[in-house]
Amino acid sequence: MKKRILTTGGAGYIGSHTTVELLKAGYSVVILDNFENSDRDRVARLPLIAGTADVRLVEGDVRDAQLVADVLKHHKIDAVMHFAGKKAVSESVADPLLYYHDNITGAVSVLSAMRDIGCNKLIFSSSATVYGNTNHLPTPETVPPSVSNPYGRTKLIIEEIIDDTAASLSNFQALSLRYFNPVGAHSSGFIGECPRGVPNNLFPYIAQAAAGIRDYVQIHGGDYETSDGTGSRDYIHVVDLARGHVAAVEHLLSASTNPTPHRKVNLGTGQGHTVLQVLQAFSKACGFQIPYRIGPRRAGDVAASLADPSLGLALFHWKPMLGLEQMCQDHWHFQKRERNKPGSGVRMPLCAHETASNHLVSNETHPLTAGSRDVPN
Ligand code: NAD
Ligand code: UD1
Repeated sequence: MKKRILTTGGAGYIGSHTTVELLKAGYSVVILDNFENSDRDRVARLPLIAGTADVRLVEGDVRDAQLVADVLKHHKIDAVMHFAGKKAVSESVADPLLYYHDNITGAVSVLSAMRDIGCNKLIFSSSATVYGNTNHLPTPETVPPSVSNPYGRTKLIIEEIIDDTAASLSNFQALSLRYFNPVGAHSSGFIGECPRGVPNNLFPYIAQAAAGIRDYVQIHGGDYETSDGTGSRDYIHVVDLARGHVAAVEHLLSASTNPTPHRKVNLGTGQGHTVLQVLQAFSKACGFQIPYRIGPRRAGDVAASLADPSLGLALFHWKPMLGLEQMCQDHWHFQKRERNKPGSGVRMPLCAHETASNHLVSNETHPLTAGSRDVPN
């Protein structure tokens, strides 16, 4: 029988790509999302990309523990992937209580629902931000955490809450996946990252500059101790990251007992690229030079971040396959399609199958919540 996975925040950037890879790997998926940072159109595209409609959507808030418990029970969920939460570092500095409230309440709600229903496999979206400004590069999971902002602190606190919960329950198994810098988009161009407002992160900013939405890319600092003076990061293709989740959940579901009930595992490539190298690769992908200026350093930035990805390989045989060139090509392909969407202010011809995808979400009401919808089977 097919295993069924709950993806909280499954309509978001990483959750939607992971949902596609889960469907392609033969899992059944239930998405729980309140669309505070995503939209229903993206969910409507998932069956088309994955080639199967074995995905259901519950519209609701993950902080509602009763709703989460009802979903776990009603859909007989085998494992949970908890993506839902807030993720903007600068917003977390401006309003830390919002982040402590939303991210931690969401995680506690998921954990208590899992405990109450007896669902005992969890994958949590953590972040390499927990390593802070470490000099230990590449960074293995054994490096002590050192967070420098409230967003990062929520990730660390949630990891610790999972430690305590896993220790208190028999047979509970969890993996906290510490993502490095997820970028790129699905090669179909149907799903990708759609930041609201001015992007903070490098790839979305470069993509918007390439599309003419921004005049140029401001490089935050050219005097770091890196090969060319610009900041270096471990960028990972979001599809590789999504496949890492599939490998991780297969590992959890196949292990009946585990001597370590909660492990933290890096998801990165082990390859670093500077801002200038990314700009060069992106310019190649779009066929013209993207304008840039080198400015002062951004407060809070580190010179370099790099994963030691060996634990993921050893534990669940996962290895990223897609390089910087593919990350740039796929990100650019998605950005071009976004620009063509109604409301973007620019129109170019759409492919026939894109318009077809807009009809995949029905208005069916889910029995569990008044406003929820199911993607039809
Ligand atoms: P995203 O904002 O695109 O996706 C999050 C999804 O969760 C959205 O669809 C949003 O509507 C939903 N959501 C938020 N709060 C909710 C709530 N209370 N109830 C139900 N749904 C809710 O973000 P993403 O980039 O896909 O990130 C997913 C996870 O990975 C987050 O926990 C984030 O902190 C973590 N992460 C992301 C990155 C990154 O660079 N994108 C890096 C490290 C870790
Ligand atoms: C940011 C977050 C981090 C999160 C990560 C996820 C901050 C301080 N940190 O980290 O918590 O886990 O995203 O992907 O927000 N850059 C420019 N110009 C730009 C944007 C970025 O030069 O317009 C540079 C940055 O200085 C950095 C590199 O590009 O050297 C990558 O930046 P970014 O994409 O924001 O990621 P992180 O800084 O690694």
